[in-house]
Amino acid sequence: MIEALPQASLRCRAFLDDRSPPTPCLVVDLDVVRESYVRLREALPEARLYYAVKANPAPEVVRLLARAGAGFDVAGREEIELCLAQGVRPELISYGNTVKKARDIAFAHRAGVRRFTFDSLPDLENIAGHAPGSTVSCRILVDSPGSQTPFGQKFGCSPEMAADLLTRAAALGLDAEGVAFHVGSQHLDPGAWEDGIAAAARVTRAVAARGVSLRGLNIGGGMPGRYATEPPPLAEYAAAIRASVERHFPVAPELAFEPGRAVVAGAGLIRSEVVLVSRKSPTDEKRWVYLDIGRYGGMAETENEAIAYRLETAHDGTPDGPVVIAGPTCDGDDVLYQRTPYRLPLALRAGDFVDILETGAYTQSYSSVSFNGFPPLRTYFLGGEPGEVGEFAGRHVLAEFSGVSPEVLDDAGFLCDSLQRALEKAGATVCELTFKRFEPQGITVLALLSESHASIHSYPERGSVFVDVFTCGRRADPELAVHLLQELLGAGAARTQTIHRGQEDG
Ligand SMILES: Cc1ncc(COP(=O)(O)O)c(C=O)c1O
Repeated sequence: MIEALPQASLRCRAFLDDRSPPTPCLVVDLDVVRESYVRLREALPEARLYYAVKANPAPEVVRLLARAGAGFDVAGREEIELCLAQGVRPELISYGNTVKKARDIAFAHRAGVRRFTFDSLPDLENIAGHAPGSTVSCRILVDSPGSQTPFGQKFGCSPEMAADLLTRAAALGLDAEGVAFHVGSQHLDPGAWEDGIAAAARVTRAVAARGVSLRGLNIGGGMPGRYATEPPPLAEYAAAIRASVERHFPVAPELAFEPGRAVVAGAGLIRSEVVLVSRKSPTDEKRWVYLDIGRYGGMAETENEAIAYRLETAHDGTPDGPVVIAGPTCDGDDVLYQRTPYRLPLALRAGDFVDILETGAYTQSYSSVSFNGFPPLRTYFLGGEPGEVGEFAGRHVLAEFSGVSPEVLDDAGFLCDSLQRALEKAGATVCELTFKRFEPQGITVLALLSESHASIHSYPERGSVFVDVFTCGRRADPELAVHLLQELLGAGAARTQTIHRGQEDG
């Protein structure tokens, strides 16, 4: 749908080749996010666009889209706070989740949010009670057989019930705007919106007959990313939706849509490493390729093999064979593809990279916090405009390396040298480096950086080193610096924590 944007993967790959960050990691090209947003706006200029934050809730993405003028569809309180922190005005936020706590509705209202979607009487009554006078839409259930990640029966109510609830909304003093529906995500059929639009028109007529005039129609998300199956062009979706609206609504409604995937999918590329290539028996044609990323590391949408990502390796074009692709954890469900007929080069070995394309949507935020000890998916951002991430915003990485040899812990020169090399390789500028030896507790090394500061403290009694790296802006990568330092010091293990600071600055 979003026409080919080869510069996304080229730029992301160049960054990965240059920086060699630890894998797995996701690289997001913010310029591609902006371009995809503009193309969607141009395709349906008559519709207000509310970006579905859940698709990629990175502050960098939200801030960029806020500056581009987008509205935001949020799932709950935390996404509201995230949007507000990135400078989104509350009137541009739509609380689209139909499952919400009364106190979260009250919070949203206090924060200035005035648009809500509901699909049940209890939720509608909560909105009337805690967000009086707000603008509301009622979500209807639609069939979405063509969606690759359908919602099933979870959201929406019958059109008949929607007509009753919207009439009731008006009676409760709310601004009943219209009907909302979502055809299910990753839709390859541009005609998929037809039934929902027809049903919404019927509800609108039924409500009008009871004296309540609805003016809006929210057609949700569902526009696709480019995975293994090439989707139709965006223009076909826009034309089909426009034709359906004209067919069913005698007076054009105020349209809104909530694309998530189509805004961000194409901007992301994941680099993973092959951990192991094996067979289940010597005669098996199928190899098992285990990657260092799996279902719990960000590839959640491979559940039921719903989303078949495109893969690239350095051996592409050489002879290949069938594979099962699995993740690195000790969970039997952590298998990405065993029915989808993937083939990978026969030359593929442990240590090779497998790049997973079009992975800007529904990946990082799905990665677990530490299932099997694996950290959440690291993300790097390219492009964007200066100031899009506050120059004072940054990352603070704290770590303890254990298993460091006594000689290293006592060698001030080597500690200074290693810290400087790791920081510079990670893009930081070291302005001054100083150290002090504390008898008998160890050595402290302090680096003053253009981007802020870093320090290490050796702790001979524990055989460990404490590390603290803080960098502002996006030029330096403190996580990479800590990773490189661990290697240089020959540390056996590391416990690392990253804290994001000051995202609202800029
Ligand atoms: C209410 C709502 N709107 C929009 C979206 C975004 O859908 P998509 O990513 O298919 O565009 C979702 C996805 O779950 C959703 O729940």
